[in-house]
Amino acid sequence: MFPVKIKKILGKKNKRKIICLTSYSKNIAQILDKYCDIILVGDSLGSVLYNYNTTRNISLNTMVEHSKSVKKGIKKSLMVVDMPYKTYRNPSEALKNAKYIISKTGCEAVKLEGGKNIIKIVKHLIKNKIQVMGHVGLLPQSEKGKFRYKGRNKLERNKILNDAKSLSSSGVFSIVLECVESSLAKKITKSVKVPTIGIGASVYCDGQVLVTDDLIGLNPTNFRFVKKYANLNKIIDKSVGLFKKEVINEIFPTKKNAY
Ligand code: KIV
Repeated sequence: MFPVKIKKILGKKNKRKIICLTSYSKNIAQILDKYCDIILVGDSLGSVLYNYNTTRNISLNTMVEHSKSVKKGIKKSLMVVDMPYKTYRNPSEALKNAKYIISKTGCEAVKLEGGKNIIKIVKHLIKNKIQVMGHVGLLPQSEKGKFRYKGRNKLERNKILNDAKSLSSSGVFSIVLECVESSLAKKITKSVKVPTIGIGASVYCDGQVLVTDDLIGLNPTNFRFVKKYANLNKIIDKSVGLFKKEVINEIFPTKKNAY
């Protein structure tokens, strides 16, 4: 038996696209909550906020602290937290850390990167009533070198398809497809019973996820799969410039801003 929020996500397959976005703080989560089905505290936090050149450097406790903040902004969405690199190397380590994340943050599920190589771990978590979101295709935690889309040859395509099928039959409630070639994403989406959530994986997925800081133009990126819906960098730049000008010219603060 799945909890209600998870059932709702499962029920959206072939009905309505699933909306998922990342958040690292309460203020952003509060805005997203109105529009999202799932809010993900992604370990992209490491590169987006902490400027690490890999997501591998983010610690379990940093993820937990940000997730605690995010939780305070959520009223209705399903909250998923990424398990950081080297926190799920075997079933017992994964269970201990997943329980820690859930108990400290109040999130409803965790996300793990990998396919057949982590099936034993995924099954162990699910057996212990932990809800798991899968993640196949481009896997930032294990990627060496330049990020390139996946599904370039038959061998790679079969591997990703089989990974997704194994995850689905292990009981995950959804699978992120990251940078997966369009026709392969379509095939996976048709082949698995759980919803697929794409990032750079075409319109054929059951839902879409983006890093919010990319979508609002706060984090400068030029990934092909990102669409910038706003340019917050420009807005902040303008506001801060105006603040400086007003302070120098004694326009701010006014009497209204003083006691
Ligand atoms: O870490 C993250 O933000 C993610 C999404 C990009 C899916 O895994």
